Amino acid sequence: MSTHPAQSERVVITGAAGEIGFAMAQRYAAAGARLVLTDLNATRLDEVRNRLPAHARITVTAHDVTSMEAARAVATVCEHHLGQVDTVICCAGLYEELHLETVDETAWRRSLAVNLDGVFYTVQALRPLLAKGSAVINIASLAGHRGSVSHTPYAAAKGGVLTLTRSLAQELAPHTRVNNISPGLIDTGMVRALDTGRREAMIAATPLGRLGSAEEVADVAVFLSSPAAAFMTGETLQVNGGLYLHS
Ligand SMILES: NC(=O)c1ccc[n+]([C@@H]2O[C@H](COP(=O)([O-])OP(=O)(O)OC[C@H]3O[C@@H](n4cnc5c(N)ncnc54)[C@H](O)[C@@H]3O)[C@@H](O)[C@H]2O)c1
Repeated sequence: MSTHPAQSERVVITGAAGEIGFAMAQRYAAAGARLVLTDLNATRLDEVRNRLPAHARITVTAHDVTSMEAARAVATVCEHHLGQVDTVICCAGLYEELHLETVDETAWRRSLAVNLDGVFYTVQALRPLLAKGSAVINIASLAGHRGSVSHTPYAAAKGGVLTLTRSLAQELAPHTRVNNISPGLIDTGMVRALDTGRREAMIAATPLGRLGSAEEVADVAVFLSSPAAAFMTGETLQVNGGLYLHS
């Protein structure tokens, strides 16, 4: 897929120390973008910085997406390093196996806080910096459409992200487009943590017959932030090899 650096010169990615976030950082860095990369895990964020080309223009900053105050601090960093922002990608996420009977208030709140509150706080804090023609891309999940056994809080939060995306698309139009990517089974630690039987059954139910890669999700983000998607907002793109076709 081609890249369109002209429209994605200044990019902010949350959860950038994660596997999909890193793949996105690689794509945008290769296109010459200036990046602010954030993650809760500052150590892994530094490692990510070191794995990206030395000449890439990258600022990393620790960020707990569950805190509105932290989101405002990130906005200050972005204003200082980027001025305005062309693309925001909300990629931070927490996929915890939580059986219904064991979900307590703390676990429920933690999942909602990372997976849903974090998207809202990030976009709200960065809103004043969004450039005309900018794009926000939220990373939800197939679980947000279908629900997910043993991941009820996660699925509920991701379902919220789908609706949040549609509200934000209307609130921020026509200045900023807001779209959503719903990955299916992507070959990352999140999926490797699933028990083998469940993972194999899901792969068998996937028409394309394999896991997706983090890079394949990143390519869709590059598309959504590019002029090729200039008339798309409030939309969700499924990146799941057709798994969504099986109910
Ligand atoms: N891997 C998949 O198959 C898959 C499928 C559907 C959706 N997703 C979504 O894609 C996104 C990236 O997933 P991934 O596979 O790269 O997972 P990952 O675990 O590698 O990355 C998630 C990142 O989010 C960060 N994070 C967690 N809590 C945070 C917090 N409070 N504040 C800031 N950062 C925090 C983690 O430190 C981690 O670096 C997530 O939103 C995930 O829900 C992934």
